[in-house]
Amino acid sequence: MRRDLERILIDRTVIAARVHGLGEQIARDLERALGGDGTDQSHGKLVLIPVLTGSMIFVADLVRQLPLKLSLELVGVSSYPGKSVESKGVSIQGELPQNLKGKHVLVVDDILDSGHTLDVVTRLIRTQEPASLRTCVLLRKPGKAKVAFEPDYVGFDIPDEFVVGYGLDYDGFYRNYPEIATLRPEAR
Ligand code: IMP
Ligand code: MG
Repeated sequence: MRRDLERILIDRTVIAARVHGLGEQIARDLERALGGDGTDQSHGKLVLIPVLTGSMIFVADLVRQLPLKLSLELVGVSSYPGKSVESKGVSIQGELPQNLKGKHVLVVDDILDSGHTLDVVTRLIRTQEPASLRTCVLLRKPGKAKVAFEPDYVGFDIPDEFVVGYGLDYDGFYRNYPEIATLRPEAR
């Protein structure tokens, strides 16, 4: 695996520190949204929705920084045409979480590139009339957006390079690499 990687863009200690900071910020905001008296929180009104598969490592670390009563509902999304090429279309795999009406929802994805994925997912969620809807991405490639989409929380802005690791893949591989790295051209 290591020999396919070109260079480390964000190492694990930097990722961990940022995820910690994001957790604090998100916890503060959500606590406020859930009401100072804790009513909404005690009624389990907070739903975190990871976009699979890329966000799984990020979410696993992030949720453990959130000392809030929450449930996890998964959404599977495939971007076409696959591999490292830009997504031109987005399709939802399986069913979208239901019963989001009146819930405070946080959608989490690994990276915002064209913006199509989060655009589609949040549109669909909004039809269920959640009490609030926020989005969080670990990475964002500025200037790449094909649809205007402004996430509420962004871990890192990165240059327009294809990256893998910490959940991000190339053709399904390298998700388990613990740092965010670029791929050697020969490995593509
Ligand atoms: P968008 O729909 O174009 O915003 O792209 C979001 C999805 O494209 C992400 O959830 C990733 O699956 C994939 N993606 C975009 N850029 C990269 C990258 O640099 N490495 C790995 N996956 C990426
Ligand atoms: Mg993805």
